[in-house]
Amino acid sequence: MESNEKVERLRKLREETLKGGGKARIAKQHEKGKLTARERVNLLVDKGSFEEIDAFVTHRSTAFGLEKQKFLGDGVITGHGKINGRPVYVFSQDFTVFGGSLSETHAEKICKIMDLSLKNGIPVIGLNDSGGARIQEGVSSLGGYAEVFWRNSMASGVVPQISAVMGPCAGGAVYSPALTDFIFMVENTSYMFVTGPNVVKTVTHEEVTSEELGGATTHNTKSGVAHFATANDAVCIQEIRKLMSYIPQNCEEKVPMIESKDPDSAKAKALDELVPLNPNKPYDIHDVISGIVDKDSFYEVQKDHADNIVVGFARLGGRSIGIVANQPLSLAGVLDIDASLKGARFVRFCDAFNIPLVVFEDVPGFLPGTDQEWGGIIKHGAKLLYAFCEATVPKMTVITRKAYGGAYDVMNSKHIRADYNVAWPTSEIAVMGTKGAVEIIFRREISEAKNPEAKQKELEEQYSEEFAHPYKAAARGFIDDVILPSETRKKLINALEISQHKVDSVPKKKHDNLPL
Ligand code: HXC
Repeated sequence: MESNEKVERLRKLREETLKGGGKARIAKQHEKGKLTARERVNLLVDKGSFEEIDAFVTHRSTAFGLEKQKFLGDGVITGHGKINGRPVYVFSQDFTVFGGSLSETHAEKICKIMDLSLKNGIPVIGLNDSGGARIQEGVSSLGGYAEVFWRNSMASGVVPQISAVMGPCAGGAVYSPALTDFIFMVENTSYMFVTGPNVVKTVTHEEVTSEELGGATTHNTKSGVAHFATANDAVCIQEIRKLMSYIPQNCEEKVPMIESKDPDSAKAKALDELVPLNPNKPYDIHDVISGIVDKDSFYEVQKDHADNIVVGFARLGGRSIGIVANQPLSLAGVLDIDASLKGARFVRFCDAFNIPLVVFEDVPGFLPGTDQEWGGIIKHGAKLLYAFCEATVPKMTVITRKAYGGAYDVMNSKHIRADYNVAWPTSEIAVMGTKGAVEIIFRREISEAKNPEAKQKELEEQYSEEFAHPYKAAARGFIDDVILPSETRKKLINALEISQHKVDSVPKKKHDNLPL
């Protein structure tokens, strides 16, 4: 073969790799409102930065005439590129080739980039769009999944792992995204479930559509399996790029600082009047956050699930931070099972990846009721407590109003080694709220009084005077300072700066035994 023929062969093969499962299947993919695997990768990484690996890989299967159906790349595009100049490894399943199903070789390609990501300390982004195990390959395909799961587990806490579910993701296949740090889903075109609607109908006689059972809305509201619901593929990919800007490359690194931008002055000024003096009146914790963090930098995670707690990333003085905040607008900001799980998972991600934690606290306690007790609020609440206890990143807490009972301890208190704890003048740090406390400790005095109502009012005033403020805690050093809301931004920026080289550790152990 002449040398120019050899070059021509390569050119043709390269062309072939771009064709996926062919024009008709690509048209079908587009008709569903979905992009192809390659279009997704091209949108995800900086222009011209993608370096493909294993484009010439084909499957080795011969069952059911499969040897006559080979597609270069075998249904998954793998490689690395850059997002805003920082490298990432990517795999993108190609639904136009065997429905993106996972064969032994398809799995090997994913495993290869996962191994490289761990060696090189670079995040992995998986774009999932797959009919599951390649049925014709049987157990080889199942083995392939397990190889991926094992790597997901080993990489957990070492490099960030991001999943986007952009089509079907069913059966055991769901466990790869589930083992990663964040799951994005696309509304109306993606779903995740362990067993689909037909099996559900047979076993439980429930009639449910794929979308209802495991669509983006379901997993972003009810189950809390996913973290972001996006309108379409392009938006999903833009959101992944955005998320990446807040997180580091691996557990040894920090997020690069960017230029700091002050919040809108109107929002910052409004802080001093924001918290109502009446403890039963709600306010939106988002207004606290946006008045303090760098302008427009708050990036909320799981915003439609357990909205009594708000979590997300932001920038403060140009530094990336993780925010955990009680939301008085929803269930008065109480902690329940879902809120505890949502908070704990987020805290653990931030701690694993060196992102300082800032807590805004206005919490009346844990939610009472049989649902909660029988659902295991004890062990789930313990997860949030554990997550804050074990975190060694810089930890700060701003008590805006209520810090009652066990929830006071849990929400990143000084006692569990937070670095900088402050309270606003509106805060009440006590075992419980005034009314409840008075009714318990003065039950007899009130019932025996000539005018029980007046007596109760008088005792409430006394209790309030004694406990409904931050100065008892300040006198003990349980908070470091009482500050004006409008001073908070500056104080937190200073606290972050002074603790930027914080060194802390946990006792040597094989691994912890987080309450599960
Ligand atoms: C091989 C598959 C496939 C699979 C789809 N295809 N799933 N090939 N293995 N698992 C092929 C189809 O033959 C078809 O090929 C093409 O992909 C597109 O599939 P369609 O059915 O035409 O597409 P659509 O109507 O959009 O339906 C998509 C689907 C459906 C809902 C995903 O294909 C489906 O139900 N597939 C089977 C899903 C499944 O049961 N998988 C195993 C789950 S168990 P042509 O040549 O026509 O384009 C599992 C366990 C994982 O995954 C275990 C981990 C531990």
